[in-house]
Amino acid sequence: MRILLLTHTFNSLTQRLFAELRADGHLVSVEFDIADSVTEEAVALFAPDVIVAPFLKRAVPESVWRRHLTLIVHPGVVGDRGPSALDWAIMNDESEWSVTVLQAEAEMDAGPVWATREFPMREATKASLYRNEVTAGALAAVREALGHVDDWRRGAWQPVPPAQWPNARGEWRALMRQADRRIDWAQDDTRTVLRKIRAADGFPGVADALFGGPCHLFDTRAGHGQGRPGEVIGRCGGALLRATVDGAVWIGHVKRGGSDDPYKLPAALAFADEAADVPEVEGVDEIDYRERDDGQVGYLSFDFYNGAMGPEQCRRLEAAIRQAGERPTRVLVLEGGRDFWSNGIHLNLIEAAGSAADVSWDNIQAMDDVCLAILQMTDKLTVATLRGNAGAGGCFLALAADAVWAREGVVLNPHYKNMGNLFGSEYWTYLLPKRVGAARARGIMEDRLPLRAQDAVSQGLIDACFGNDLSTFEREVSKRATAMASDPGYAEHLNDKKAARERDEAIKPLTAYRQEELQHMHRNFFGFDPSYHVARYHFVAKTPQSWTPRHLAIHREIGWQTPDTAETC
Ligand code: COA
Repeated sequence: MRILLLTHTFNSLTQRLFAELRADGHLVSVEFDIADSVTEEAVALFAPDVIVAPFLKRAVPESVWRRHLTLIVHPGVVGDRGPSALDWAIMNDESEWSVTVLQAEAEMDAGPVWATREFPMREATKASLYRNEVTAGALAAVREALGHVDDWRRGAWQPVPPAQWPNARGEWRALMRQADRRIDWAQDDTRTVLRKIRAADGFPGVADALFGGPCHLFDTRAGHGQGRPGEVIGRCGGALLRATVDGAVWIGHVKRGGSDDPYKLPAALAFADEAADVPEVEGVDEIDYRERDDGQVGYLSFDFYNGAMGPEQCRRLEAAIRQAGERPTRVLVLEGGRDFWSNGIHLNLIEAAGSAADVSWDNIQAMDDVCLAILQMTDKLTVATLRGNAGAGGCFLALAADAVWAREGVVLNPHYKNMGNLFGSEYWTYLLPKRVGAARARGIMEDRLPLRAQDAVSQGLIDACFGNDLSTFEREVSKRATAMASDPGYAEHLNDKKAARERDEAIKPLTAYRQEELQHMHRNFFGFDPSYHVARYHFVAKTPQSWTPRHLAIHREIGWQTPDTAETC
């Protein structure tokens, strides 16, 4: 089928649908929802069999849905309507929730139901539920809906109006406002505070105040401590500890000023002067190391918010990797974070800095040092296990390990060019061609497309993909890592690894790759062409898109011929 993905942005759900539906054999094109006339033009050019709208902020124009089958993905139970579906589900402490595919009609989210998938709710942020449960459910529901299209056209199948859906429990819910989200520090217990912040994370955050200054709160977890409710009672790294009526919560990130303020920053950095006098206390570290299998296998996780790695985080991670390298283990598993393995250098920190070029430079050096620490670990085997998505430099960081395993459903974006033609570093010029060959490496970098973990395996970019949920993946990782450590061929594998590294080093030293990459990066950061700085600004500010990139909108490519077989409703 010809499927047009009509979407506000190319977000994680849209990327997953794009990659999966293409793998299913459909011809998929993308159009950003910019204006009704632009959508109408895209539909006329592509003549889609079906329009799928994974993420919209406005209604689909009537001129489109009346003539073309348009399926909307709504992150709510059958009958649920409104723009804050997941926010309300978290706030109302729902134990189960759903994602529903419905047909566009005049009233938003009120059309007949084509498919739905239920999932258990987890104590997690809205963004995490969206990236995981909602995305997996949406993919299954969209596939089911597409399976009905032919029958529907022949009149052999009909979608079900929400009112006729058995046990439909959804209802209209208005946009959640800051007044609904407000934390009453004198009343709300820890669980309520956590719930309120998680329902607003990653957007728009909860409007509140710290040290008397207005801000929006994000990135929270339970902590330990006592104090006047609402008071800041400790700090650890970038996070601040605030007392609640029955304990304390960590606030990891804030936006100072209004919710339009683009700089979501570590709380202790955003309030650097005020936080200077706050006592350091023990908190939950983003970096965690543990050993299993009688000390044979070490596991190092680094759960940085949004997978973004600033200079300090990179330096702490490098130290942790080097320390883990000194342990008498045989295998080191690098786990990244739960939702993101890594998304490379920290663009928000860079954007907020006095000199963005200088901090970019510092950040990429620190990132390269992390890669180097992995590449130089020749006395044990290393595995990168991608529990969540990886983007840009974060992908190449994973390739520094001897083996790369990903959870099914993970999406990789192994390219830099979308960020203002950034050349990229992280030793990618060494690591990528080594795995996939020079021609394919060029293709991956130029195409700038999201890759499913399965496709990354078949292209040789990574080694394995398994486990369609996190716990299955982690169990299987543990089995495979144990097998690796106790493999009778372990010593031979290690010798091969050392020999290969020495051979590669003799042909071209790692420092040479790094220097060459950094020469390009220096030009990106400090040169006359401001593309990287402009792209980064728009990325951080979340500037609405004004056109769809040509590599996604194939119907706008030169040479595209509109088919004359368009199906209409
Ligand atoms: N630095 C800072 N923040 C980052 C980030 C980075 N490198 N990468 C992602 N984020 C943030 C986003 O701003 C967003 O923030 P929010 O919580 O305010 O919504 C959040 O992480 C999720 O990112 P989003 O873009 O919504 O995720 P996605 O899964 O839809 O897309 C990517 C994934 C990787 C394609 C996209 O995030 C991206 O292009 N990131 C930049 C990668 C990059 O160029 N890094 C620098 C070069 S190494």
